Amino acid sequence: MTPDEFLTALPKVELHVHLLGSASPATVAELARRHPGSGVPAEPAEVAKYCEFTDFAHFLAVYTAVNRLVTTGADIEALVAGLAADLARDNVRYAEVTVTPLSHRKTGIAPRELAEALDSGRRIAGGLGVELSWVFDVSGDDGPPGAEATLDWVLREHPSGTVGFGLGGPEAGVPRRLFRDVFARAKAAGLHSLPHAGETTGPDEVWSAIRDLGAERVGHGIASARDPRLLRHLVEHGIPLEICPTSNLRTRAVRSLAEHPLRRILAAGVPVAIGTDDPGLFGTSPTAEFRMCRDCLGLSEAELATLVRHSVAAAFCSPAVAAGLL
Ligand code: HPA
Ligand code: ZN
Repeated sequence: MTPDEFLTALPKVELHVHLLGSASPATVAELARRHPGSGVPAEPAEVAKYCEFTDFAHFLAVYTAVNRLVTTGADIEALVAGLAADLARDNVRYAEVTVTPLSHRKTGIAPRELAEALDSGRRIAGGLGVELSWVFDVSGDDGPPGAEATLDWVLREHPSGTVGFGLGGPEAGVPRRLFRDVFARAKAAGLHSLPHAGETTGPDEVWSAIRDLGAERVGHGIASARDPRLLRHLVEHGIPLEICPTSNLRTRAVRSLAEHPLRRILAAGVPVAIGTDDPGLFGTSPTAEFRMCRDCLGLSEAELATLVRHSVAAAFCSPAVAAGLL
């Protein structure tokens, strides 16, 4: 088996992927064709250029523009089916997929319609041998009221496969602690706390995600590398970071791979789950992330296999799924 065949064949789990950001350039172009005048290009090659981000704010602006094109339950089901097909091709057996209900509500998708589309997409994924779970998040700029409305939707609809509650979108100017009460309510309802923190801000926000929001994994959390005490805390409490190297480069959260802190975080003993974040918009895949870890960050095949074990241990999948992965 060639090294690349090894990476593809490795049974994987994906714990940090946004449904909307999984849309390939071809899918985005097709959606844009149905919404003339949206400003989003209707040719795949143009979409790829449109997705050359100058900074994190630019990325979020494009993400929001693409979100505006997703207006029906059928669009949602197609996104889930497309993601599931991509995951199956990469031998990903289990994924926790982040969905942002309030963003879909804003484009006219009714609450029940969203839940039904996700259920139906999840069944399609199961037929491809990929088990999906859901993390429902809110964009930070929708504030605590948006987060409360999101949690109300989750608890009312409770789509099968729901495992977690998250916080994404802009981080600068949106302190994690503002969301303390809603995360407490989510945890009391049995949801896992899975906020983004320390992607474009500093270690203080990772501390806040842990202390104020009870984070059980942290989305990105790369700023932790700047705080040795925080790294020790993550190790001692077994709190994994979901690290997405291509995303960090493409949003310019890190300036170059040479500056990426993954190796330092691993050397400190922190459990790490490698994710793609927005594979369609960033032009990546689970296998491509592992290839980058090997070729650009110098990880050995044994270290890559260890990363997969970290992901399985960090996943909220059924024991039967975990047993099939290890
Ligand atoms: N950070 C915050 N919000 C997001 C991201 C991200 O990397 N991707 C999609 N929504
Ligand atoms: Zn993310």
